[in-house]
Amino acid sequence: MMRAIGGMVMLAMACAVSQAQAWELQWFGQSAFKITSPGGKVILIDPFITGNPKTPEALKDLAALGKVDLILVTHGHGDHVGDTARIAADHEAKVAMNADMGHTFGNLGIVPYKQLIRFNKSGPIQPIDGITVTMVHAEHSSEVVHTDPASGAKSVHPGGEPAGYVIELENGFRIYHAGDTGVFADMKFIGEYYRPDLELLPIGGHFTMDPAHAAFAVNKLLGSKKVIPMHYGTFPPLKGTPEAFKQALGETGTEVIVMEPGQVLKF
Ligand code: NI
Repeated sequence: MMRAIGGMVMLAMACAVSQAQAWELQWFGQSAFKITSPGGKVILIDPFITGNPKTPEALKDLAALGKVDLILVTHGHGDHVGDTARIAADHEAKVAMNADMGHTFGNLGIVPYKQLIRFNKSGPIQPIDGITVTMVHAEHSSEVVHTDPASGAKSVHPGGEPAGYVIELENGFRIYHAGDTGVFADMKFIGEYYRPDLELLPIGGHFTMDPAHAAFAVNKLLGSKKVIPMHYGTFPPLKGTPEAFKQALGETGTEVIVMEPGQVLKF
């Protein structure tokens, strides 16, 4: 009898452990993702939601996001900064970004300094318990176009260096969000050094890698295990498609996961 009870306790513990390891990824279209970590931490990356043509209407109610612990912004362009200011204010979330853009955000009052984490490449941080974030290179540009809330006047400010992020969850799973980027040779370093389990890569072209360049990055540089394509189809110039990406990849050991905007994947 005691042994049977012991077995049940063991089974219950095993279930608790496997549930604790589970985590979720939601895509809002463009480069906007929500990660709910194994430890229940909520991380938003490039939260372009209310103005995002691909985000389902039901998800544009920012209150429906629930709690948000951390926002990561890859660079200053509007389709990546998105709703950062409002979400940061509503949820008192920490907001991490390159150090120079952090000054722009702080000085303009977009996000209060006390919520900002200003950092730079190759210096891993633990902005929230159990989550390690490392900034990596991106081949792109970055500026912050600010609209004065009182006058409506626009002004342009420094956005620092554009970036990608490697996010390591509590269970050791590593996600590489490339931000907006062209292909660059040091993607080989990202693949070898961080060994991401999942990569979120832009394929739309025009401002970022197109399907052919993204396929070269995957096959020759990153050696990706799993890839979710992003930053395509949102606006007319972003013509790359997942089908063209898969075709360009050809015979490959990389798994391509094509998400629908709003979809939640469980890992
Ligand atoms: Ni951009």
